[in-house]
Amino acid sequence: MAAKSARRVRWRRYWDRHSKTYDREMRFFDRVLFRDTRSWICRQVTGEVFEVAVGTGLNLEHYPPDVRLTGIELSQEMLAIARRRADDLGRHVEFRVGDAQTLDFPSNTFDTVVCTFSLCAIPDYREALAEMTRVLRPGGVLLLADHVASSVRALRASQRVLELVTIPVGGEHFLRRPIEHVRATGFRIEGHDRFAAGVVERLRARKPAV
Ligand SMILES: C[S@@+](CC[C@H](N)C(=O)[O-])C[C@H]1O[C@@H](n2cnc3c(N)ncnc32)[C@H](O)[C@@H]1O
Repeated sequence: MAAKSARRVRWRRYWDRHSKTYDREMRFFDRVLFRDTRSWICRQVTGEVFEVAVGTGLNLEHYPPDVRLTGIELSQEMLAIARRRADDLGRHVEFRVGDAQTLDFPSNTFDTVVCTFSLCAIPDYREALAEMTRVLRPGGVLLLADHVASSVRALRASQRVLELVTIPVGGEHFLRRPIEHVRATGFRIEGHDRFAAGVVERLRARKPAV
């Protein structure tokens, strides 16, 4: 428990520090690697929408105007930028500081749960997915996008080497594939896209209706 909370403090500080440069770096990757993923994800949401690890709110401009948005984020500094962005867009969002691994919401609350480019950074991504599943109502939709283990063996080997540095330094994982876990926990995959040598994966999955 103490180790878990020390780890949370460490990554919170890490993301607080990175908040200043995050948008510039991420916009570059959005352009060269992730393509239209933010709009692909956001145009599929409906109803009561929950975004996990919302970061600086780069998805906000892509959501339809008629959905109600709630977002949580570990880093106060990232969230401060997201709040400013929401204000600039004239968008009401219920923001909270929180940990994706222990969500402070009742079960079966949201119609749609979104998480983009964060399961690579959340220490226990299975625990985070279990929490997303819990707060999603039966029959609700889970929308995920991330960089994942490549489908090309040589590239996967490079990702393995890269992780030797990125996990200890920045908590960044390159070999995860959330879709496998989502499928194994009974979700029906309704939409799926994988590109850039299999490094980018985005999916739409439906929670069983009970
Ligand atoms: C690469 S950024 C992605 C941000 C945003 N989702 C996006 O698409 O631009 C990863 C984010 O995950 C957040 N994060 C990491 N661990 C977390 C946790 N346990 N709970 C909530 N957020 C977390 C970080 O603070 C950071 O803002």
